[in-house]
This record gives sequence, structure tokens and C-alpha cells, in this order.
Amino acid sequence: MKHTVVLTAAMPDVATALLSQECDVLTHISEEPRTEDELIDILADADGAITILTDPVTRRVLTSNPNLRIVANCAVGTDNIDLVAARELGIAVTNTPGVLTEATADLAFALILAATRRIIEGDAMMRNGNFLGWQPLMLLGTELNEATLGIIGMGRIGFAVAARAKAFGMSVAYHARSVHHDTEEAHGSLRMELDELLEKSDVVSLHAPLTPETAGMIDSRALALMKPSAFLINTARGPLVDEDALATALETGRLRGAALDVYQEEPRVNPRLLPLSNVVLLPHLGSATTRTREAMARIAATNVLSWLRTGRAPNIV
Ligand code: GLV
Repeated sequence: MKHTVVLTAAMPDVATALLSQECDVLTHISEEPRTEDELIDILADADGAITILTDPVTRRVLTSNPNLRIVANCAVGTDNIDLVAARELGIAVTNTPGVLTEATADLAFALILAATRRIIEGDAMMRNGNFLGWQPLMLLGTELNEATLGIIGMGRIGFAVAARAKAFGMSVAYHARSVHHDTEEAHGSLRMELDELLEKSDVVSLHAPLTPETAGMIDSRALALMKPSAFLINTARGPLVDEDALATALETGRLRGAALDVYQEEPRVNPRLLPLSNVVLLPHLGSATTRTREAMARIAATNVLSWLRTGRAPNIV
């Protein structure tokens, strides 16, 4: 009998093309993040699932369908999945590492430039008809050359951001659990304790996974250590940052600016951030290029096929 694989969102065609050679594929489209109950409903007949990062793959979801053998998350992060429960139940979990590194590093750098050079404010000025002519003091920003970029989390994406920073003439500091000789050698990066990195950086960029240890790491205490002229960039996971504390720092001029691609209660944005011109807000676009999303879909489908065929898969978490 053919296996049934459920896709919890519309995905690049390659996923269905690969899977449908030997499985029945059901795609369930929803504009909004699903609840646990909705997920239980759509996974009812699935042997395998390709999920997205907004799907709450909880223990209750995992136990609801005894046939479920693999959850292939179409993301590098797996914080939306109860990995302990999956392991206990013998359900494989896979992710899509590697293929989204460059796209996400590009977006982090786009946000660094947007925040430091006030690109969104400038665009708004043009559209609102407020550009009346060149002025020496208009929309002055912060230069990256000779500034220090502090990277928190030195995985693949942190490394790729460090490479871009080096090309922009920045010094790179990083905070990670272990020493990363590769970036120290390639980019002259210096490992620092978190507090020292926060104190010394002109731009702080987050590239750590969401875990109990990293949740809320950028709170009012951390923000108070940053230079008032500094910027905070988050393309990792929203709950790393206490958004209320960030809003206070931005409102009071305690911090010069921020740029966020991810949110504490995604897709909700803290309403205090919306009126602020010193924060750039994007709708979780880190990996959103055609090439990367195709590669992610291909990897997710390959993991499902491989697991259902052989009980092995290349990207087990
Ligand atoms: C995106 O945020 C991912 O984890 O792939």
C-alpha cells in the first residue's frame, strides 16, 4: 500500500513531484498558523509529514496518529517540534540545514544596512513627497567600515554573516559555547563573553537557535549593556528577544535602532514597535529566495522518502 504524506503548506513543486512517484500526497493550505487541533486533523492519515516552522508539533500531535513515522520540518530550526516526545515515540524528525545559510546571511546583512543607513525611512520620505532637496544633515546613518559586529551564535549562518562583515571592513566579535577556529582564522573574529560582546558591539546580530537557555537572552539587562549608538538585528527566533524591553530601549533612545525578521509571538508584532521609525520590521523572510525554498522542499521530501523506504534519512535532528 502506498504511504500517505501530508504537506502542511503550499511548497515548491519539487516536493510533490518527488513524493508522488511513490506516495499519495495531500497538501493542506492555510494562511494562518495552525492550532494543535487543526494539525491533528490534517495529519490523521499521514505516514509522513512535511511541516513548517509555525506548526506546533507537540506531544499531543505526535501521539494522535500511531501511523506517523516521520516529520520533516521545512526549516533549519526545529523549536516548533517536541523532539523528546518524537524520540520516545520513534518518530523521526529532520530539518533542512546548509541550504538556507547564504540566503539568511544575506537577509541579516540587508537588515543591518537597512537599519544603519535608514533605508526604510528614506523610502518613506520619497513616497510621502517629503524629499525637498539634498541636505547635509538629512537622514544621517552609521557607517559599517571599522565598526564592530557582535554575532551571537556561531553556526553556519553566523559564519556566513561574519564573512560579509569582513568584506564591509567590520571587526567581528562572537559569542558561542565553543571556540570556532574557522571564523577566527578566516575573519579574525574574537570570541567574547556575552556581556563583553554586548558592550563592545556597534551592531549585534542574533544567530542562535531557540532553546530554554537562549529564550529571553536579550532582555532589559542585556539591552542596558549595549551602546546607545548600537543596533540589534534578529533573523533567528523572536523569543530570543524581550520585545517589550526592546520597545522601551528604542522609545527612550537607549538604543539607536533595531531590525527584526522574527517575533516573540509570531505573526503578532508587539504594537509598541509599529510607530517607531528606528526599527525595521520584516515578515520572517530569512530563507525566502526561490532557490533556497526549492532546495528546502527537495531536502524535506528526500528525507521523507528515504525514511519511509529505508528507516534512514540524511538530516535526522
Ligand atoms: C527559518 O527560520 C528556519 O528555521 O529555517
